[in-house]
Amino acid sequence: MTFEKILVTGAGGQIGSELVPFLSEIFGKDRVFPSDVRSNTTDPRFINLDVTDKTSVELAIDKYKIDSIFHLAAILSAKGEKNPELAYKVNVSGLYNILEASVKNKVKLVLTPSSIGIFGPDTPKENVPIETIARPVTMYGITKLMAEHLGNYYHARFGLNARGLRFPGLISYKSPPGGGTTDYSIEMIIEAVKGRNYKCFLKEDSKLPMMYMPDALDSLLKLAEAEDSRLKHRTDFNVTSFSVTPKELELELRKYYRSFEVTYQPDFRQRIADSWPGSLDASAAVQEWDFHPNYDLRSTTEDMISHLK
Ligand SMILES: NC(=O)c1ccc[n+]([C@@H]2O[C@H](COP(=O)([O-])OP(=O)(O)OC[C@H]3O[C@@H](n4cnc5c(N)ncnc54)[C@H](O)[C@@H]3O)[C@@H](O)[C@H]2O)c1
Repeated sequence: MTFEKILVTGAGGQIGSELVPFLSEIFGKDRVFPSDVRSNTTDPRFINLDVTDKTSVELAIDKYKIDSIFHLAAILSAKGEKNPELAYKVNVSGLYNILEASVKNKVKLVLTPSSIGIFGPDTPKENVPIETIARPVTMYGITKLMAEHLGNYYHARFGLNARGLRFPGLISYKSPPGGGTTDYSIEMIIEAVKGRNYKCFLKEDSKLPMMYMPDALDSLLKLAEAEDSRLKHRTDFNVTSFSVTPKELELELRKYYRSFEVTYQPDFRQRIADSWPGSLDASAAVQEWDFHPNYDLRSTTEDMISHLK
């Protein structure tokens, strides 16, 4: 599949700020259009776009002759619990606008990351398959599950090439995380590098799946370029690199910073973490589009530290 004009929504966020240069390097700068509702860039390609504004979405896709979209605009889990109405508007109505405009303009690909947030307390805890009990208890999870179904619906009903993958917690150093429940991992590494102790908002044994940003970018590209004939799933691929508890990360960091200490004071995010699985079965992504993460806990921590220093 060739991509001529790529729109990235939510480009100013944790993933977008790395995906834009990553795609620009591969496809060429003039073919990638970063967009966001907030503008904190001098990039001449930048499009100021609120995805909840249907008319603006249609105009932008038409004006820039967009043929593929990485739809990252979203309100994440912890932020979504503070403002459920906004989470609903952005995560559901925003996606709806993107899907509608994409059908109208014959867009060739709409790739929307989903999340482990679609799972809930009734989901099995370990090695969770794609098809399982998914009764999310957060507005974020509910909207992301609906987003998966909307993508499948637009594919079945209108032939739109909607794709998506369920990211675990993403660890990265270039941009601050956007208000998710796994943000503690990034905060803990940053504090350790700064020589400070850390107060963790999750319990020490809250095991969650994680992935380092280079693997996340690579998996987005692989799924985008995957042969359609190989895909048995579309919008709901599980992907994961490693699972870790806050305590295990603390101990890993102590290998570099001997005096580093973490205190554990769980807040409202503990309830969210408790509803998510500890590990995922990513075999469908491996079989259908050669998903292959390179970073484990040790190499992620090492690489994060070397860049943050
Ligand atoms: N970062 C993670 O750990 C993680 C994990 C699982 C899934 N995801 C998914 O990946 C995608 C991107 O996540 P992220 O971490 O980059 O999030 P982020 O919060 O860092 O960035 C989201 C961006 O969307 C923008 N945005 C918000 N409302 C908007 C609107 N109305 N119109 C246009 N833009 C708007 C924000 O300004 C922000 O720049 C989301 O779909 C998220 O659910 C992320």
